[in-house]
Amino acid sequence: MPVHIVVGLQWGDEGKAKALDVLSEDCDLVVRYAGGANAGHTVVVGGERFAFHLVPCGVVRPDVVSVVANGVAFEPQVFFKELDELDERGRAVGPERLRVSERAHLVMPYHRLLDGLAEREKGDAALGTTVRGIGPCYADKAARVGLRVGDLFRPEHFRTRVRARVEELNVLLAHRYGESALDAEAVAGEMLALAPRLEPYVTDTVAYLAEAVRAGRRILFEGAQAALLDIDLGTYPYVTSSNASACGAAAGAGVSPRAIGRILGVTKAYTTRVGAGPFPTEIEGAEGDAIRERGGEYGTTTGRPRRCGWFDAVAARYAARVNGIDAFVLTKLDVLGGCERVRIATAYRIGGRTIPHFPSHVEDLAAAEPVYEELDGWSEDITGARRVEDLPAAARRYLERVTGFLEVPCAMVSVGKDRAETVIPSTGKELAWS
Ligand code: IMP
Repeated sequence: MPVHIVVGLQWGDEGKAKALDVLSEDCDLVVRYAGGANAGHTVVVGGERFAFHLVPCGVVRPDVVSVVANGVAFEPQVFFKELDELDERGRAVGPERLRVSERAHLVMPYHRLLDGLAEREKGDAALGTTVRGIGPCYADKAARVGLRVGDLFRPEHFRTRVRARVEELNVLLAHRYGESALDAEAVAGEMLALAPRLEPYVTDTVAYLAEAVRAGRRILFEGAQAALLDIDLGTYPYVTSSNASACGAAAGAGVSPRAIGRILGVTKAYTTRVGAGPFPTEIEGAEGDAIRERGGEYGTTTGRPRRCGWFDAVAARYAARVNGIDAFVLTKLDVLGGCERVRIATAYRIGGRTIPHFPSHVEDLAAAEPVYEELDGWSEDITGARRVEDLPAAARRYLERVTGFLEVPCAMVSVGKDRAETVIPSTGKELAWS
């Protein structure tokens, strides 16, 4: 069954884009099914760096068709900016290689505004969102007052719905936030002006993907954000507003769960988190700062410094099980090089009890003290390693322990930014498309 999912097992930024890029060599389609321009996917090809927020990573492969599916919060302005940047770099992508679902919800200008106002209002209790309007867009979708890509091609219908929504929002803006009123006609006009350029890309992607599945084309689902940011399964309320885990792929792309083949979980060799929310293995001080610098741990989307911590096997195993992963990819193992000792959290102590599982309530997670296993570190530069045997013994031991906790084989280890800086273990055959 040649339909695979690549999904993050932590709080995002696991290096999914690199795994996707390596895997997409053998695939026909790459599909984004959730999230929006809050994502930041960085791919380095032959020393050239690409950072995507909305456009699937498949666009760097000339033979791949990329699909922005119905579950994505779609902001046309960001989409065009990314297309223009690709064009300027001689990598133009036309509609024959890029499809956008007519069912995808539009991130409207007022969604960004509301995201920022809600965060400001929360003060110290802010979630630390990317302020890309993601939460308000999905809130409108669930409340059935959203606008979809397909609505852009029915201008009267579009204007009527925008008017109704803006009328409601203006009450909120005036009375809750003391902001001036929005002009519904201007908002509608700004979005409708984008319709002609967008039209060639717009597709009934549900029908398109159904046909691709039927024809046995090799499809890779590109997870954005990650399992611990999933609205249902993550550390609520410190989550994003979509089903970012593999569980969201079927609904987010309109593909039957029966079509899904393998699920590949991506985890860093340590843990990072941007935004607020509990993070039991966070390392405060110099050691955390050193990992941040070595790993270049600054947000692709917002530039914020990422919080860094040790590998949390409790959280990662929870994510591995809930996503039902078949194999995992370990990224940034090179960044841990230079630590005298490395630590893995194997359980939590909460209220005097040792808990092996990941708690569902954020207050329990905030109270959790990690129980650590310590291993020897390594100081060698491992970016040249291409086989597991090339890794120093301590790095191999670390990989073995992570594999034990995740309960599935390792399919790939990333030891550097470039596509080529990759170790494929013999168990990597799990990646085969057949
Ligand atoms: P939102 O998705 O912008 O609403 O942000 C909600 C939370 O998810 C915040 O903590 C963000 O920092 C986090 N988040 C959203 N997208 C990403 C991502 O691509 N990587 C890492 N964190 C993210």
